[in-house]
Amino acid sequence: MDTGKLTTRRRFLCLSGGLAASMVIPAIPSAVRAAQKETGLNPVEDLMSEHGVLRRLLLIYDEAANRLRNNMQVPSGVVEDAAGIIRRFIHNYHEKLEEEQIFPHFSGTASLGNLVAILTAQHAAGQRLTDSIEQYFKPLAVKQAVHSEEQKDKGQKMPAAVAQIYGGTPLITHILGKETSEEKMTASGIPLSKQSLLVLLEQFTRMYRPHAAREDTVVFTAFRSMVSPKEFTQSGEEFQRKQTELFGENGFGKIVESVAQIEQKLGIYDLSQFTPKA
Ligand SMILES: [Fe+2]
Ligand SMILES: [Fe+2]
Repeated sequence: MDTGKLTTRRRFLCLSGGLAASMVIPAIPSAVRAAQKETGLNPVEDLMSEHGVLRRLLLIYDEAANRLRNNMQVPSGVVEDAAGIIRRFIHNYHEKLEEEQIFPHFSGTASLGNLVAILTAQHAAGQRLTDSIEQYFKPLAVKQAVHSEEQKDKGQKMPAAVAQIYGGTPLITHILGKETSEEKMTASGIPLSKQSLLVLLEQFTRMYRPHAAREDTVVFTAFRSMVSPKEFTQSGEEFQRKQTELFGENGFGKIVESVAQIEQKLGIYDLSQFTPKA
């Protein structure tokens, strides 16, 4: 198999030994191979596989939220680690690429202009949720410093597009000082501080599932059909360059392994557990 033209990501999928050791990688059909040679690097395939990482992170949030809802232990570090990957890989890389390389093709167009405006506003909303989730785990002293900084910006209004999505209601649940009310419970018996985190996790997963699904089925498909093969290849090369710059060689593989480690901590790595019992 000629791997000379494979992206780092495809090389990971084909060659990764660790977690993928027992997987049988199906042979790539010759027609697909020919299309890859013709188009070179494939930015849509890259974005969609990044959505695969996002979906696995959403499953981690689902499991953490489920445990909080049922007053069960959430292993230390898993939500913080997942939020850190979301910040570095989804917000600072994947969404930046979408906003710089994909969405500008549709901005202001009658067909998809409104959709990309909503998607862009959701990126901002997602980052605010991640800010709040990360803030939840910061020591109180750090939260107080952040809070006093926020007071300076009190006059700052929520972006109109974000307000539109959330009906103008506050997006972030401020949890400053909740440590002192640790004993207070919701009607369903969940400590208030945990309820704050639960709401953030639920808001995040609720938004990102339809968000990624709409990009996969509408925006990426439209992008592929509206740019020339040369532009398509150039985008793929730019994606790869950016990824290597931010995450190093085999960056995608490293991110996937980090996600798998969190899944293992939470007990959701074994895929067979999701198969219905006969
Ligand atoms: Fe997006
Ligand atoms: Fe996306």
